[in-house]
Amino acid sequence: MRKITIAIDGYSSTGKSTLAKQLARALGYAYVDTGAMYRAVTLFAIRNGFIGNGTERLQALVQLLPKIRLKFVPNAELGFSEMYLNGENVEEEIRQMEVSNQVSRIAEIEQVRYKLVDMQKAMGKNKGIVMDGRDIGTTVFPDAELKIFMTASLQARATRRYKELLDKGENVVYDEVLENVQKRDHIDTHREFSPLKKAEDAIVFDNSDMGLKEQFERLESIARRYM
Ligand code: C5P
Repeated sequence: MRKITIAIDGYSSTGKSTLAKQLARALGYAYVDTGAMYRAVTLFAIRNGFIGNGTERLQALVQLLPKIRLKFVPNAELGFSEMYLNGENVEEEIRQMEVSNQVSRIAEIEQVRYKLVDMQKAMGKNKGIVMDGRDIGTTVFPDAELKIFMTASLQARATRRYKELLDKGENVVYDEVLENVQKRDHIDTHREFSPLKKAEDAIVFDNSDMGLKEQFERLESIARRYM
């Protein structure tokens, strides 16, 4: 069987990561969650006071980009990789609302995208990879053999995200989660550099009314047809 590149893009909280991770495991492929990379840069920006003080501070962040070291470190016990920022495991912190509320602003910055897209291209150079994000099929791997564009109704996505955060013990309000999902989609689809959009050759996968098992089975059978 040939090794292929699988690009999974789509709106916020469509469950891309869960599904992409499962698919990678079933195929024996590497998995890369590019959202975690944008989130880690955002956490760095928050911690170092680069957010909320106008565009000058964001320019200062750009100067510091070479000092931001990101690494996915496999956790054998959990069965997936965790994000490390300058040597520190930040997997939990990058999923919190504070980061979700700022990440799309950081992901708009051209130099941030250059840095992360370069890293992502390098990670996928040997194929045999499932990568999820917003611009994987359009910018990172325009030649990917299989491109999936995931979508679901706004309500379905906000409800999933809300439950996920509650399960993690975060103290959140549904309306706040809904607003965050909506706002991120707006910024992600309207930004100047590699906005979120369906690649022309991507397969649309609407999972509003599908359970996890059904989604996975469908996706795996699509993937195997391309291998
Ligand atoms: O996938 P996740 O929701 O964790 O991504 C967080 C944010 O990172 C997105 O809302 C988007 O602003 C940004 N992102 C991006 N390009 C990617 C992956 C994520 O702009 N390839």
